[in-house]
Amino acid sequence: MPLTLTRPDLLRNANFIDGQWTPGPGALLTVTDPATGATITQVPDSGAAEARAALDAAHAAFPTWKKVPAKQRAHIIKRWNDLVLAHQDDLGKLISREQGKPLAEGKGEVAYAASYIEWFGEEATRMNGELIPAPVPGRRMFALKEPVGVVAAITPWNFPAAMIARKIAPALAAGCTVVCKPAEDTPLTSLALVLLAHEAGVPAGVLNIVTASREKTPEVVEVWLDDARVRKITFTGSTPVGKHLARRSADTLKKLSLELGGNAPFIVFEDADVDAAVDGFMAAKFRNGGQTCVCPNRVFVHDRVHDEFASKLSARVAALKVGPASDLASQIGPMINDRAVEKIARHVQDAVARGAKVLTGGQRLPGLGPTYYAPTVLVGADASMACSCEETFGPVAPLTRFATEAEVIAAANDTPFGLAAYFYSNDVRRIWRVADALETGIVGINEGVIAAEAAPFGGVKESGYGREGSTHGLDDYLHTKYLCQGQLD
Ligand code: SIN
Repeated sequence: MPLTLTRPDLLRNANFIDGQWTPGPGALLTVTDPATGATITQVPDSGAAEARAALDAAHAAFPTWKKVPAKQRAHIIKRWNDLVLAHQDDLGKLISREQGKPLAEGKGEVAYAASYIEWFGEEATRMNGELIPAPVPGRRMFALKEPVGVVAAITPWNFPAAMIARKIAPALAAGCTVVCKPAEDTPLTSLALVLLAHEAGVPAGVLNIVTASREKTPEVVEVWLDDARVRKITFTGSTPVGKHLARRSADTLKKLSLELGGNAPFIVFEDADVDAAVDGFMAAKFRNGGQTCVCPNRVFVHDRVHDEFASKLSARVAALKVGPASDLASQIGPMINDRAVEKIARHVQDAVARGAKVLTGGQRLPGLGPTYYAPTVLVGADASMACSCEETFGPVAPLTRFATEAEVIAAANDTPFGLAAYFYSNDVRRIWRVADALETGIVGINEGVIAAEAAPFGGVKESGYGREGSTHGLDDYLHTKYLCQGQLD
């Protein structure tokens, strides 16, 4: 089915460097529809030269952009938000086409992305400093907030609009300039967003984007890692890559925000409202086909409610409609690529080989295409299984029974990751006890939908550091400068 956009020029095929669409090195990266494997278009497969040109532009633009009054930066960012919302249908179609999520979710993601842009447009005007009471006479002491400088943003494929928005909007709000490398699977939404940012009035050089394949990405990113002019890296992606970026940033001591892998537990206690827990689980787990860092990966259900939860959940999961974004009835789309489906299939096979039982799903859907996997519920999962230790990143729910609160807390925390956790309980004392005991950056309590622009999103342990969204999300792009003025007597 052809991609028909109200504004066809939102489909861009070039890098955006120093306010110009530039064609790149000649080599091309083919962008495909994960539902069919069909080519959508091609974009530059950039390398070191383009990375350097983008950085030169961002570095040259920084001294001017940081001096633009916050209110003016806020206006530009708010105009960007308006343009994004005005093109919600087109952007939603682009997201769904290159990423595979159902169209309703694609459009929903545009609204979600815009909520961050709007939020940071407003936050731009609240970069307040402090006047500190001086400990001696004749002095005035101040702490000012300043933009950190050039930011390199490396973004993932699972939310091609939202992840760009919640990195770039705070960077622009703070007065930073940006070089960005979007995920190789989903560069088109990012390029369209950059076009709209330019139309909103973001000046040349302030926001630069270069596209690159999986093979060429290291060449681009290494240029930015090596160069002391990049003062911050913001990255969402895997923990091994996050660790590499942290190691390589050490030589120039860049500031880092790392939103890395998760292994979220979802706990249903015996005092929970089971129907509410099933609803919350469906929302948390099956958004974007289970391809989110915060979606539950391990499901712990108390003995007393296990069978009720498992059967109600299986009925809901079996009823999910799987299909391409082009079918408006689809609730679960294709997975992003073959590697993703292979991992899911490996996790299910491993779980079954180790004694788990499939209640629903448990297989690929070749009739739909090679990137589809049936939404799956497993019972009898345990900590030895790959699906308990690694992030599956797909529509698989492995259920494990538990008997005591202490046992389930220990199991939930028994992972190097600490991004999100969820639990359902109606006991107010338990709610605070468990929320305190969970070693994660985010806890959903009787709630499966946790992300919002006003909330700090981020992890602990090997899920990374730094926060996106909220007032903390702006702080990550600022440093504090202390001024001490004497001789005032
Ligand atoms: C992510 O998967 O990295 C982000 C999910 C979200 O924003 O809810």
